[in-house]
Amino acid sequence: MQISPSILSADFANLQAELEAVKNADWAHVDVMDAHFVPNLTLGLPVVESLLKVSPVPIDCHLMIQDPDRWAPPYAEAGAKSVTFHVEAAHDPVQLARNIRAQGARASMALKPGTPWAPYAELLPELDMVLVMTVEPGFGGQSFMAEQMEKVRAVRESVRRHGGEIWIQVDGGVSAATIEQCAQAGADVFVAGSAVYGAQNAAQAVDELRALATSCVHR
Ligand code: DX5
Ligand code: ZN
Repeated sequence: MQISPSILSADFANLQAELEAVKNADWAHVDVMDAHFVPNLTLGLPVVESLLKVSPVPIDCHLMIQDPDRWAPPYAEAGAKSVTFHVEAAHDPVQLARNIRAQGARASMALKPGTPWAPYAELLPELDMVLVMTVEPGFGGQSFMAEQMEKVRAVRESVRRHGGEIWIQVDGGVSAATIEQCAQAGADVFVAGSAVYGAQNAAQAVDELRALATSCVHR
């Protein structure tokens, strides 16, 4: 059970300190948005390169961008240990996942809430993680979409059948109130932005979320 705090909800003027504040986390989740694939604009490769130099934990890049085939592998090359592209934006997801892995990163594929899993299940051998979005990508602080748990269960079933170590990440509206149902459905990597950086003590929020996820699972 791994926690990946999203720095989208952190203070962008103090990102080094904000990363230090969650050094007990498993990853730091960095949301790259290009104002085309999603309406919002955040940060890109130069900022990620700077974060990689100072982050106490590995960086989990979530790329909400057009043309990930062209722009995602450089994040892996820069040193991000996990790189997630959206299947809705990818032209050749198999080749893209291979290119990410070739740069030494875990290759991960994200699905928006409206994107079904079944047509992509055959891509599992190319992937190290599947990200099931539990909000419409673009903004932090939105309400959790519980109906996405059905998709998490379907991905978990595919992973079980396939075997191997493929993680399932959930992202959006994950908090102490919603993390248990995610874990029960089969998720094992939990992104939390507002639930971590909106808490009085971010590190404590990370530990509490991990404990909740760990406590409720009987797989
Ligand atoms: C949304 C981003 C999320 C976001 C989550 O498009 O992908 O990572 O930061 O924020 P919360 O946890 O506040 O929903
Ligand atoms: Zn994200």
